[in-house]
Amino acid sequence: MPPNTSFSWIEARSRRFGVWRYIELLPLRNNIEPVTMCEGGTPLVKISRITQSQGAYVKLEGSNPTGSFKDRGMTIGLTIAKYIGVEGVVVASTGNTSASAAAYAARAGLKCVVVLPRGNVAKGKLAQALLYGAEILEVEGVFDNALERVLTDYVLKQKRNMYPLNSYNPWRLEGQKTIAFEIVDELGESPDFVIVPVGNAGNISAIWKGFKELYNYGLTSKLPRMIGVQAEKASPLVATWRSKTPYLIEVDDPSTVATAIKIGKPVNWLKAIRAVEESKGEFIAVSDNEILRAMRDLGRYEGVGLEPASAATLAGYKRALEEGIIRKDDVVVLIGTGNVLKDPDAVIAAINESKT
Ligand code: F0G
Repeated sequence: MPPNTSFSWIEARSRRFGVWRYIELLPLRNNIEPVTMCEGGTPLVKISRITQSQGAYVKLEGSNPTGSFKDRGMTIGLTIAKYIGVEGVVVASTGNTSASAAAYAARAGLKCVVVLPRGNVAKGKLAQALLYGAEILEVEGVFDNALERVLTDYVLKQKRNMYPLNSYNPWRLEGQKTIAFEIVDELGESPDFVIVPVGNAGNISAIWKGFKELYNYGLTSKLPRMIGVQAEKASPLVATWRSKTPYLIEVDDPSTVATAIKIGKPVNWLKAIRAVEESKGEFIAVSDNEILRAMRDLGRYEGVGLEPASAATLAGYKRALEEGIIRKDDVVVLIGTGNVLKDPDAVIAAINESKT
């Protein structure tokens, strides 16, 4: 079916930028005052040198105002938080969510509390949360422990009037689904595959929701297959997918150099499983070595700087080619979720390691 583009869709987009160009496809009133920094509208660039394919692209989400895709969700989340008149927002985070929430809260004039796993957050992200004036609470353990603290201390006890903005918050996912809209705008139709690094599993669910909506509205004629990539020692979804259990196989002590996705109990696990199932996709686990090699290669051969979690998509792409899931001439979009500047320590260690 050819795209059935309505007048109001074109008109709404011509007046706004990035995420807000798609207000017609967001459950928001047209006249709401956005808390925005023109997030979205990120580049989709070919990576043909490294892949030897004319169909491979990376979506540079690190070009967003705070350097990650999280800004797409936070612009909507903070717009709603301000609109309903809360005192502030609270998030648990592996880093990027906290940087983004802190920046958009500052812009909205709201407080921001971030709960971080001590020692498990990349330096660039921590620096951002400090810069934007967030109240930082560090807990022992990993992201899962930090999220537990948000739920017990803030959400269930209704401590202060703090609005939770982790990715079970539907407004965040509404903003993030615009990644799908932009890909279809750019390519003219859905790609064959979309490869997403998976942590708390909100993004893969949101992107799939975006594609399904476009398809249902007649704005794209096909759907992509969704591939979720996790780090080998932090791969609860790969384990759950393979075993086909009706419950999540949790990882108690997740470990990976890609701290952004060092998560053992993803909240959105069921939605993510459904996204991969419905799209006839796959979950793939990659090793830390493969992630770091992919990060170095993207930098060295394409001039593309991604943080480790995001570079995992290229490692996943290679595995999918080897396993015959993807063919060389397929159109594939890797979601480059975060900027390389987020994690300078990982980059320097990886470059030094490659020289020894
Ligand atoms: N890539 C990056 C760079 C991330 O920061 C995250 C998540 C993901 C991928 C995975 O996305 O959780 O929706 O599956 N970071 C969260 C945070 C957990 O706190 O910044 P997801």
